[in-house]
Amino acid sequence: MGEFSKTLLLGSPSLLFLFVVIIFLYASSFPSDLSPLGSWKQHLTDWTGGLGQNKTSQDLVVKDPMKYLLRRLVRGQDRIQLDFTGFSCHNDLHSEVCLTNKPIVINNSALTIYIPSDQQQLDHTVQPYARKEDGTAMKAVAPVKMIHRNTSLPACRFNHHVPAMVFSSGGFTGNLFHEFNEVIIPLFITCRHFRSELQFIITDFKPWWVEKYSRILSQLSRFEIINPAANASIHCFPGVVVGLKYHDNLALNYTKIPGGYSMFDFKDFLRTTYNLKIQNVSKIQKLSVVLISRPMSRRFLNEGKMVEMMEELGFQVDVIKPNRMSSLDKFSGVINSCNVMVGAHGAGLTNAVFLPDGAVFVQVVPLGLDWASETYFGGPAKEMGVKYMKYKIDPDESTLLDKYGPDHPVIVDPMSVFLKGYYAAREVYVDGQDMKINLTRFRETLLKAGKLLGRSTPLH
Ligand SMILES: *[C@@H]1O[C@H](CO)[C@@H](O)[C@H](O)[C@H]1NC(C)=O
Ligand SMILES: *[C@@H]1O[C@H](CO)[C@@H](O)[C@H](O)[C@H]1NC(C)=O
Ligand SMILES: *[C@@H]1O[C@H](CO)[C@@H](O)[C@H](O)[C@H]1NC(C)=O
Ligand SMILES: *[C@@H]1O[C@H](CO)[C@@H](O)[C@H](O)[C@H]1NC(C)=O
Ligand SMILES: *[C@@H]1O[C@H](CO)[C@@H](O)[C@H](O)[C@H]1NC(C)=O
Ligand SMILES: *[C@@H]1O[C@H](CO)[C@@H](O)[C@H](O)[C@H]1NC(C)=O
Ligand SMILES: *[C@@H]1O[C@H](CO)[C@@H](O)[C@H](O)[C@H]1NC(C)=O
Repeated sequence: MGEFSKTLLLGSPSLLFLFVVIIFLYASSFPSDLSPLGSWKQHLTDWTGGLGQNKTSQDLVVKDPMKYLLRRLVRGQDRIQLDFTGFSCHNDLHSEVCLTNKPIVINNSALTIYIPSDQQQLDHTVQPYARKEDGTAMKAVAPVKMIHRNTSLPACRFNHHVPAMVFSSGGFTGNLFHEFNEVIIPLFITCRHFRSELQFIITDFKPWWVEKYSRILSQLSRFEIINPAANASIHCFPGVVVGLKYHDNLALNYTKIPGGYSMFDFKDFLRTTYNLKIQNVSKIQKLSVVLISRPMSRRFLNEGKMVEMMEELGFQVDVIKPNRMSSLDKFSGVINSCNVMVGAHGAGLTNAVFLPDGAVFVQVVPLGLDWASETYFGGPAKEMGVKYMKYKIDPDESTLLDKYGPDHPVIVDPMSVFLKGYYAAREVYVDGQDMKINLTRFRETLLKAGKLLGRSTPLH
C-alpha cells in the first residue's frame, strides 16, 4: 500500500474525524426508516457507481483506493478500457476527460504527460476546460499532450504520492457564471470523492483567479497548487486526471458519474468553505433583498427608485456591485443573509448558489434574452432549492425602444435579429440595452415574493 492509501484508510485524526462527520451527514440525509448503517452501505453502493454488489470494485476500495477513486470517473466501455489498459478517455459534447491509474511523468514546460505502456495506444491531446463546444473559449485553453511510451521515460525531479488533476483556469474565466459553470462545479464533481488527496496542476494559470478561489481550492486539495509555467520541472505522480466532468448549466446530477453529489451537497460545501451560517431561509427574521447592480450594460436606470419602493414595502435592501475581482468572502455572506435576490440577467446572478434554501430569486429578463435567461439561470435555479420568479420587461422598459422605435424588428421580432448570428444579437440585446423598471408592476412581483416566503409585507 502506498502512502496515499494509508492516509486515506487509516487517516490522520482530522481525516478520521472528517470521515465520521461525512458518514453522519450522509446518514442524516437519508429517510429515517434507513438505519445509519444502511445509509452507509447505500453510500458505498453509490461510490462504486452502481456496482456495489461487484466483488471487484469492493476489493479495490480496500486494496487500492486510488485506482478505485479514479475508476469512479468512468463507466461502461470506458471503465472496461481503464481496467484493461490503465488508461481511458471519455468524450462528450462539453468536455473530454482522460485518466490513467499508472504512474506518470509530466514535463511541465511542454505540458506533456508520459504514460508507461507496452501496448500500442494512440496519443491524446486534451484541452482541460469544460466548454469544448465553444471555439472562442477553447482558444484560451492550452492543450495537454498524453503520450504512451514503451521506452524509458524522463527522470523525475519531484515525486508526488497522490494523483494529479490537470485543469485550465483559462477559457472564459473573468465571468462569474463561466467560472462556476466550467471550472468550480466541474472541479467539485470530478474531485470531491478524493477527499482532498490529490494535487492540482492548473494550466493557463491566472494568479488573480487562483487567489479568488483559494478557499475552494484548498478545501478540495490539501496540496500545494502547481503552476506548470512557473515550475518547469519533471514531476511524477501515481496517476492523473486531465480535464473536468461536466453535467449541465450550473448543475450537479446525482446520477451521473462519478455520482453521489447534488447541488445541495455543493451548496453545503460552499457554506462550510465560506463559513455561511444560514441553510434555510426560515432562519432569517427580517425581509431582506439583495439587489445585484450591473455597472455596464443591462443596468437598472431607476435603481434608486427601485430601492425606495422595496424599502417602502418593508424590505431591507442591500445593493451589491460585484466585478471580476470581487472577493467571494464578502458577497457570499451578504447573499446568504437575504431571503430575496433581484438582478438583471447576467453573470452576477450566479451568486444564487449562496442563497439559503427556500429564498426567492427574481431574474429581470431584458428584451430578447428569454432563452438565455431560462437556460442559464431559470432552469438551474429550480435545482438549487430556491423559488424562482422572472420579471419579464415590456418594450417600454427597455432603452431599445427609444433607440429603434416601436415597429423595428429589434422590438417586435427579436428572433429575426438572432437569425443574423449570435454576435449581431449580442451587440443589441446583451451589450446594447439598459432598463427602466415599471415600479407599479415590479411592486407586484415583490409582493408575490413576500407571499412565497410566507410573509405579508407591512404595506400589504
Ligand atoms: C465486476 O467488474 C469487473 C471489472 O469491471 C467485470 O469484469 C465483471 O464482469 C463485473 N462482475 C459483475 C458480476 O458484474
Ligand atoms: C521538457 O520539455 C521542454 C520543452 O519542450 C524540453 O526542452 C525539455 O527537453 C523536456 N525535458 C525532458 C526531460 O524531456
Ligand atoms: C515500442 O513501441 C514501438 C511502436 O510504438 C515498437 O516499434 C517497438 O517494437 C516497441 N518496443 C518494445 C520493446 O516493445
Ligand atoms: C516546484 O514544485 C515542487 C514540488 O511541488 C516544489 O517543491 C518546488 O518548490 C516548486 N518550485 C517552484 C519554483 O515553484
Ligand atoms: C440527471 O441525469 C439523468 C441521466 O443520467 C437524467 O435522466 C436526469 O433527467 C438528470 N437530472 C436532471 C435534474 O437533469
Ligand atoms: C425550510 O424550512 C422550512 C421550515 O422549517 C421547511 O418547511 C422547508 O421545507 C425548508 N425548505 C427547504 C427548501 O429545505
Ligand atoms: C406600468 O405597469 C402598469 C401595470 O401593468 C401599467 O398599467 C402602467 O401603464 C405601466 N406604467 C408605465 C409608465 O408604463
